Amino acid sequence: MRKKVDFLVIGSGIAGLSYALKVADYGKVIIVTKSKAEETATKYAQGGIAAVMYTPDTYEKHIRDTLIAGDDLCNEKIVRLTITQSTERVKELIKWGTNFDKKESGKYDLAKEGGHSEYRVLHHKDNTGFEIESTLLRQAKKHPNIEIFENHFTIDIITHHHLGIKIYRKTSNINCFGAYVLCPQTNTIITVLAKITLIATGGSGNLYSTTTNPSIATGDGIAMVYRAKGIIENMEFVQFHPTSLYNPNESPSFLITEALRGFGAVLKTIDGEDFMKKYDERGCLAPRDIVARAIDNEMKLRGDEYVFLDCRHLNNNELINHFPTIYAKCLSIGIDITKEMIPVVPAAHYTCGGIKVDEFARSSIENLYASGECASTGLHGANRLASNSLLESAVFSHRASQDSISKINSIDFCDEIPDWNAEGTVMNEEMILITQTTKELQSIMSNYVSIVRSNLRLKRALDRLRIIYRETEDLYNKSILTVEICELRNLINVSYLIIKMAMERKESRGLHFSLDYPKWL
Ligand code: FAD
Ligand code: SIN
Repeated sequence: MRKKVDFLVIGSGIAGLSYALKVADYGKVIIVTKSKAEETATKYAQGGIAAVMYTPDTYEKHIRDTLIAGDDLCNEKIVRLTITQSTERVKELIKWGTNFDKKESGKYDLAKEGGHSEYRVLHHKDNTGFEIESTLLRQAKKHPNIEIFENHFTIDIITHHHLGIKIYRKTSNINCFGAYVLCPQTNTIITVLAKITLIATGGSGNLYSTTTNPSIATGDGIAMVYRAKGIIENMEFVQFHPTSLYNPNESPSFLITEALRGFGAVLKTIDGEDFMKKYDERGCLAPRDIVARAIDNEMKLRGDEYVFLDCRHLNNNELINHFPTIYAKCLSIGIDITKEMIPVVPAAHYTCGGIKVDEFARSSIENLYASGECASTGLHGANRLASNSLLESAVFSHRASQDSISKINSIDFCDEIPDWNAEGTVMNEEMILITQTTKELQSIMSNYVSIVRSNLRLKRALDRLRIIYRETEDLYNKSILTVEICELRNLINVSYLIIKMAMERKESRGLHFSLDYPKWL
């Protein structure tokens, strides 16, 4: 089956939807999304979106906080451009219908999170992402030019390679002509020809056994662009959120928002020691890399499986009113957070690197844009400042839309693209090979490529990865494609990028901490 569309958007989180809503006035849009449209990391965002709203906050302060968190690896031009557009993009979300909490005075109720020197995080209770996602989706479903293909899985973007032309990373001029999309219900692969394609596929937390990310986060977009010989960068910087609820066997791990620490909650060891000041004078509100490493270190020193987050001293009514989702979730497993401490552990949370893009979200491949967590804009450097990612998505999808609109009428479809060739493949009955290999991969990444790394651990990870790479490629080439085999292949590609880039970084910086290049422990 073939389809033709002006704009192909892969992903229905904040990055995909906000872009689609803007370009849809200039042409037809198809949004492809691999699960139900609302099932995105965006939906699970808790803390909120960082933006400069009122004095005493200023753009300069937010810029400085972002640069400090990024440990000297941010692109300052991109940081400035993003932060100075924060107010405008937030006002746009509000115009689309997003409700952020207000105080009695009528001003927005701004929260504070780790690494922020001011209160600047707009939120809707502790389920801000749900509010943003449902608002954007409601708007997208109303737009006559937007068609949403739910439960459709993008396998690969289409490039010159599919015309039989050999291409090389960095030296070839590569064009994107759309994507091959699997409809698992009918087992067909649709050739979607598009003038412009936006990848907005989110992160890759499912590389690790413990993650806050929903199951859709398997790094598909990054892997697709890598296979298409586009440029990927900064993959060694995997952010672990310091505080996910310790509740063994629950996947994904339930997040305990950093805003709770901004509200006064304190990290403690199991025997009650308030340990964070030992590691950083900012205590519990130090940037995430520092807090996650400190928790990891305390757990290892003491042989404990978790640390505690203590809210018992906070005003009960205010606590429940601000954090109703966390209160209800903890209560559901028998923890009353007004009376008991919350057991927490770090969990893989955010992919700082990704598809390298410029200030208009243009990737190294012509007519291919990337926005949101799958992209590497230069904003986060070696460590993302909390609540800067929803902002980054809104800003870069806006900029991508401006550039796309200015180009759309000068781009033609490439009708010579062949349909997907599935000749010689057979139905793979060995589902166990895929599930077991996925677990093996998650164990390799969790044991050797986690919060603390070393040259030896990385080498061990790469050696193990090579084996499962060969086995999986073999299976992939022979199989009729399923979502599971494609996701596993993508996870392996992304793991490879993380390990290789971690090996190339001969220092500890931001989220990449190596015992061979010590900074502190
Ligand atoms: P997502 O919202 O993850 O959307 C990805 C989309 O791509 C999905 O629709 C998915 O189905 C689709 N997709 C993926 N692969 C394919 C494929 N092969 N084919 C078709 N479709 C595909 N950030 C903040 O700034 N503030 C917060 O408070 C905050 N809290 C968070 C809390 C949690 C629990 C988590 C997990 C993250 C949080 N983050 C937060 C990070 C932030 O939510 C994400 O970085 C952001 O929402 C990413 O948006 P996105 O549009 O790039 O991707
Ligand atoms: C949180 O609410 O702690 C998550 C914020 C973020 O990841 O930006």
